[in-house]
Amino acid sequence: MEKMEVKEAKGKLGILLVGVGGAVSSTFITGTLAVRKELSVPVGSLTQLATIRLGKRTENRFPKIKDVVPLADLNDLVFGGWDIFSEDLYDATIHAEVLKKEDVDGVKDELKAIRPMKAVFDQEYVKRLHGTHVKTGATRWDLTEQVREDIRNFKKEHNCDRIVVMWAASTEVYIPMSDEHRNLAAFENALKTNNTEVISPSMCYAYASIAEGCPFIMGAPNLCIDIPAMWELAKEKQVPICGKDYKTGQTMLKTVLAPMLKTRMLGLDGWFSTNILGNRDGEVLDDPGSFKTKEVSKLSVIDTILQTDVYPELYGNIYHKVRINYYPPRKDNKEGWDNIDIFGWMGYPMQLKVDFLCRDSILAAPLCLDLVLFSDLAQRCGFSGIQDWLSFYFKSPMHSENKVPEHDLFIQHTILKNTLRTIIGEETIDYLD
Ligand SMILES: NC(=O)c1ccc[n+]([C@@H]2O[C@H](COP(=O)([O-])OP(=O)(O)OC[C@H]3O[C@@H](n4cnc5c(N)ncnc54)[C@H](O)[C@@H]3O)[C@@H](O)[C@H]2O)c1
Repeated sequence: MEKMEVKEAKGKLGILLVGVGGAVSSTFITGTLAVRKELSVPVGSLTQLATIRLGKRTENRFPKIKDVVPLADLNDLVFGGWDIFSEDLYDATIHAEVLKKEDVDGVKDELKAIRPMKAVFDQEYVKRLHGTHVKTGATRWDLTEQVREDIRNFKKEHNCDRIVVMWAASTEVYIPMSDEHRNLAAFENALKTNNTEVISPSMCYAYASIAEGCPFIMGAPNLCIDIPAMWELAKEKQVPICGKDYKTGQTMLKTVLAPMLKTRMLGLDGWFSTNILGNRDGEVLDDPGSFKTKEVSKLSVIDTILQTDVYPELYGNIYHKVRINYYPPRKDNKEGWDNIDIFGWMGYPMQLKVDFLCRDSILAAPLCLDLVLFSDLAQRCGFSGIQDWLSFYFKSPMHSENKVPEHDLFIQHTILKNTLRTIIGEETIDYLD
């Protein structure tokens, strides 16, 4: 197979995070800086730890992904971003209470040097937060222009060759797709006429980033880039985009367990998922508007995997419920409970109970690292628009209108690795050899 033309990963890669002072961003940045100083190990990251089989099983070639795929080097990453609070990244990381002070102190000087830029914020979209470090502008268009300027200034100031922008900020309230989202001209008109009902702050960042030629990643379930107008812009500007909503804890388990049931033709009556969570994300999701956005994202998984219309006798009547309960004592240490009512031969009922005592930001941080490195790779490969091959990382993977999303974690994993094989000119693997 012929190797693809991939631009070299030379120079600095700027990583701009929206919500840079939040739990996920600060854990991602601190961990990456610590790994760079050899103070820590990047557990959970495929780009740093995973191997990839090349050739036939008998050839015994299993190099590390990072040794054969031309990814940016961790030493070349420069971090920055926006937040509605102005505290530097050291203080923000300590306040997030995810990491122990002794782990944060190892990279204190580097974190102290990262100061959030002023955010595009609208309280109507995140009801539970009150921003103090925010931009002012007459219209959404003006605010978007300011973000574009921030990106250009950051690039110049830090001497970056390329920039990737990732949303790791709070989940915005649910908004449905409307006419203004259906094509770029209508969308730009809504930005200019300041139609705040349909243009969320996250859309301003996404538009700015794509317009500046920077890949954009949506880590929350916001509608944001999952609209035809943004797909059009991404194609026009030749920019890769991906989303939505990092697949970290409960949904990761769902996308392993549901395919297991289907593979064995076991039936499902109901799936009740509940979460208790005490960090700022939990507080934001306590608002019904933000919860609805998350709920839609979390609910989409099971029906698609189980193909409810194809197997009515097994999956025709599933009761699927998802709850998120804000419970401050747990902070970032979420507990996700799943009660799964299944049935087997002759309809006899059985139950599965899963109790995942996880750490939300610890699970999300390696996904952030992989996503920024793979999005930069996609850009250098000349890929643009929705990056289906990165579905592995998302709860509701974006997909073009005529495609069905793939949710099964292991199929997503195969797609991801086969894409990497194609990029480096190796045969894809179908596991029949
Ligand atoms: N941790 C996980 O496992 C996981 C999984 C999937 C999705 N997510 C999503 O990732 C996001 C971040 O999660 P978190 O735990 O870090 O939350 P967090 O509340 O700790 O951080 C969010 C940050 O975004 C900032 N912010 C809010 N609106 C902003 C805006 N308009 N511009 C700039 N900054 C803004 C907040 O001030 C805060 O610092 C959330 O939307 C969450 O739902 C997290």
